[in-house]
Amino acid sequence: MYQLYTFLVGIHIFAAIIGLGPILVFNQILKNAGNMNELKNAHKIIGKLNPLSSIGFGLLVTTGLLMGVMNPSLFKTVWYLLALGLFIILGIYSSFTIERKLKSMLNISETHVGENIPQEYIELLNQKISHDWVQNALLITIFILMVFKPGN
Ligand code: HEM
Repeated sequence: MYQLYTFLVGIHIFAAIIGLGPILVFNQILKNAGNMNELKNAHKIIGKLNPLSSIGFGLLVTTGLLMGVMNPSLFKTVWYLLALGLFIILGIYSSFTIERKLKSMLNISETHVGENIPQEYIELLNQKISHDWVQNALLITIFILMVFKPGN
């Protein structure tokens, strides 16, 4: 039982890497595009990395809940319940803000005619970057809760 729990922690940490890794580099990939052609390629890369990130987040919550099932006393700890709540908020926040902006940006990159990146796109990217600050703050808070387990 102890070995299975440790195995789940290992999968959980791996899931955190593949879940968080890609989303932390998306803005760098997008900001480096200098014209529409490069932007189309940037969105292609993001399109390939996004599903990997979703698998990571899916695995994170699945392994996290499985550990809770194996050790139900976790549901009485502050850090676990707080992390779970923040994770749900994070999912809702990202899908209503960041994901929507990314979809509109992808749409522009596919339909815009011409070499120059339109102002409308740059505005969307800047709005996405502000939402990313909130997302990253939530991610860091969950990470700190995981490592220090306050109120254990
Ligand atoms: C951004 C999301 C998350 C990240 C980056 C993350 C990261 C981590 C890390 C690095 C550890 C190892 C900590 C240690 O052993 O010192 C850990 C452990 C753990 N995490 Fe997460 N986690 C996340 C989300 C979740 C969620 C949503 C849950 C609950 C459903 C969860 C439940 C757990 C549990 C139960 C442990 C094992 C604690 C133990 O017994 O030592 N995690 N997490």
